[in-house]
Amino acid sequence: MPHEVRGVVARSKGAEVSMETIVVPDPGPGEALVDVQSCGVCHTDLHYREGGINDEFPFLLGHEAAGVVEAVGEGVTDVAPGDFVILNWRAVCGQCRACLRGRPWYCFATHNAAQKMTLTDGTELSPALGIGAFADKTLVHAGQCTKVNPAASPAAAGLLGCGVMAGLGAAINTGAVTRGDSVAVIGCGGVGDAAIAGARLAGAAKIIAVDLDDRKLEWARGFGATDTVNSRETDPVAAIRELTGGNGADVVVEAIGRPETYEQAFYARDLAGTVVLVGVPTPDMKIELPLLEVFGRGGALKSSWYGDCLPSRDFPMLVDLYLQGRLDLDGFVSETIGLDDVEEAFGKMRRGEVLRSVVNL
Ligand code: APR
Ligand code: ZN
Ligand code: ZN
Repeated sequence: MPHEVRGVVARSKGAEVSMETIVVPDPGPGEALVDVQSCGVCHTDLHYREGGINDEFPFLLGHEAAGVVEAVGEGVTDVAPGDFVILNWRAVCGQCRACLRGRPWYCFATHNAAQKMTLTDGTELSPALGIGAFADKTLVHAGQCTKVNPAASPAAAGLLGCGVMAGLGAAINTGAVTRGDSVAVIGCGGVGDAAIAGARLAGAAKIIAVDLDDRKLEWARGFGATDTVNSRETDPVAAIRELTGGNGADVVVEAIGRPETYEQAFYARDLAGTVVLVGVPTPDMKIELPLLEVFGRGGALKSSWYGDCLPSRDFPMLVDLYLQGRLDLDGFVSETIGLDDVEEAFGKMRRGEVLRSVVNL
């Protein structure tokens, strides 16, 4: 029997979100019905609402979530009712070219639920990133659910579903930070701070945080930054070089997605150093780099997709590290809010007042 629950919907381009009654069908083959417990507010939700992703309105927003499986459809064996799960927006198929070549983080198969959630008048909803978790319940493909230790708080665990995983993974998966490394992170929002936390977890000896905002730099210290650079006052490239004995950092993570900060990352890397772009640029952005610098400095210029994570490998491990007190996920939760407060949370996010606002359900 379909379930009528509350959901936060973006009805048309640029319009404020509204609370709607939505209809969530029971799971079909390969699907799971999830009782959502928490869902973080991410830039991508705002991007959907602004029409920046596509124009398949109305959207059911929310995608950074944890909850409890309520029911599963035919053929689902990996998760069962009662399991505490983190939702992911990139279930890998195991069969495409990327998967078969051992690079499943580039898997291009999308696994969204086949059954559609709707408004009460039957209008089909497009769930944000195939999830749609600003809702009491949501319907996903079972492969989007990863079972983790239920001792974790839903607010903390849910953050691994998007932004925090992106930043952690940029450092530990894409950047492959290892103990003793020097790491610089440019842009210290939730994603950048997660990269800092990842670098600390990986044993980096020096972690340099760069931002324009002193308050952000202070928060960055809390996640493990050993040095901070306010790039409004100080040239970050010169500062990173100076802090690394004139060399540059082994790994530089760009967590903003802008040409000028990408250039800073490029010039702040050591010989054979790695630059990881995890900030998302817009289609019009371009950079011009001296080819000789690419050639002469060597190393790697990489981008990180969803932290190059494998949910089934990374989510349970990171939750365990959190439960052992080795990874501060709670520190990312700036506030917990209700479903009614999502629009207000977008404002706080825009003004840079929060790392993450998390909806408690
Ligand atoms: N130099 C240094 N820091 C900057 C600059 C700049 N030119 N411009 C912005 N910043 C800082 C801001 O002060 C802020 O602390 O970058 C940080 C960006 O943080 P958020 O806006 O909170 O964004 P976040 O959620 O961390 O996401 C960062 O990653 O996944 C992507 O789409 C996401 O592109 C976005 C990026
Ligand atoms: Zn695949
Ligand atoms: Zn997100």
